[in-house]
Amino acid sequence: MTQLEVFNPSTNEVIERLDYTNHDEINSQIKHANDAFQDWKLVDAHERSAKLYQWANLIDEHQDDLAKLITLEGGKPLDEAKGEVTYANAYVKWYAEEAKRVYGRTIPANTPSKKIVIDKFPVGVVGAITPWNFPAAMITRKMAPALAAGCTIICKPAVKTPLTTIKLVELAHKAGIPKDAISYIIASGKDAGDIFTSHESIHKLTFTGSTAVGKSLIEQSAKSVKNVTMELGGLAPLIVHKDADIEAAVQGTIDSKFRNAGQTCICANRIFVHRDIAEQYTAQLIDKVHALIVGDGLQDDVKVGPLIDNNAVKKVLTHITDAQEKGGKLSRTLDEIQSLKGNFLKPVVISNANLGMKVMHEETFGPVAPVMVYDDLDEAIKMANDTEFGLASYFFTNDYRTGLKLYNELEYGVIGWNDGGPSAAHAPFGGLKESGYGREGGTEGIEPYLETKYLSIGI
Ligand code: SIN
Repeated sequence: MTQLEVFNPSTNEVIERLDYTNHDEINSQIKHANDAFQDWKLVDAHERSAKLYQWANLIDEHQDDLAKLITLEGGKPLDEAKGEVTYANAYVKWYAEEAKRVYGRTIPANTPSKKIVIDKFPVGVVGAITPWNFPAAMITRKMAPALAAGCTIICKPAVKTPLTTIKLVELAHKAGIPKDAISYIIASGKDAGDIFTSHESIHKLTFTGSTAVGKSLIEQSAKSVKNVTMELGGLAPLIVHKDADIEAAVQGTIDSKFRNAGQTCICANRIFVHRDIAEQYTAQLIDKVHALIVGDGLQDDVKVGPLIDNNAVKKVLTHITDAQEKGGKLSRTLDEIQSLKGNFLKPVVISNANLGMKVMHEETFGPVAPVMVYDDLDEAIKMANDTEFGLASYFFTNDYRTGLKLYNELEYGVIGWNDGGPSAAHAPFGGLKESGYGREGGTEGIEPYLETKYLSIGI
């Protein structure tokens, strides 16, 4: 069987070769996870919590090694990778607490001779499929609530970034979480999807990735009515209104747009700026964007790493040239954008953007900031909502009425008001419309791993 080669996107060198988990091994792993579930679900919630805390302590101890792995296999700058480890571990710590807070309730019956009790039970064995853009955080925000709820979990990390998962699972075992309660497989998305959606001992599928793949997994899951959670694509709008603090709006745009070189599902894809401040905002944005140092994430001061691979580079260049052909004004030339070669692209601002451009209606997943001018706020909201996606959106205004109007009218699950980085382990992350369903993080994030039963007692 051929091996999986893991590449460093900064150098295109192979950094690791791994064996794929074959079909029989996956089946036996699922069987073991199911056996482990029979024990883990009975482990006292306080003990599950203590084990999650031990895992969190080990993740803290190994922050530097984990961050280096994230940079090596995913490309993001080392400081940002350290931030991701902290963010990833916040999920483990949060769900170490939530393990103890899975509450049931009683409800008054319609006769004094009955009592109704409602309880929550773990769903069972979870199959998780995760993306490459957050090799640590997308793992822990599924694994930690699953384990906290009493489920066992098998993760299929992205083939581009499996090494962080391997390390996280190793630390979980070291923390005393049973070997078969948390494990990983090395497989293609297709193989994992086929098995996780059809195997009778996988009780739940949780997926983070593209809407196209999510749709086909939902379709496959329908056959066995599998319980699914989907965190899918985004096309985040970012609105800068005329009363915004321009400096704060520019910084917020940088925080949102250029995190992981623009390769996040929640990064601002389309920027709408009020005409009165458009010139000032765009000039400041270009200054800051051109000051971002691009390079290998292991080098000091680098703020923007490589794109994940050459296909990503080609796609982003297609978006840039399409925008240029349709009247967009690039803040630096195409030659300059590509001057670092390999998988690196220098970030660019595209002013004079319009709705006909790909950058304004397709997920770019790269360091490109298209800016379109608007005159009327209602028109901006309409353009912002005019998409099948509903994951994240942002707006900048210092007027509370404008802010509340935007909050009420934007059809998105995650909204940043004067905030380019709204993600937090203690808040429920997830999308509306074709961006998926179910929430990860917060009190809500354990719900997908729980079933509700009620008991009616005749007394
Ligand atoms: C994502 O891009 O899918 C996740 C971003 C986040 O959790 O902040």
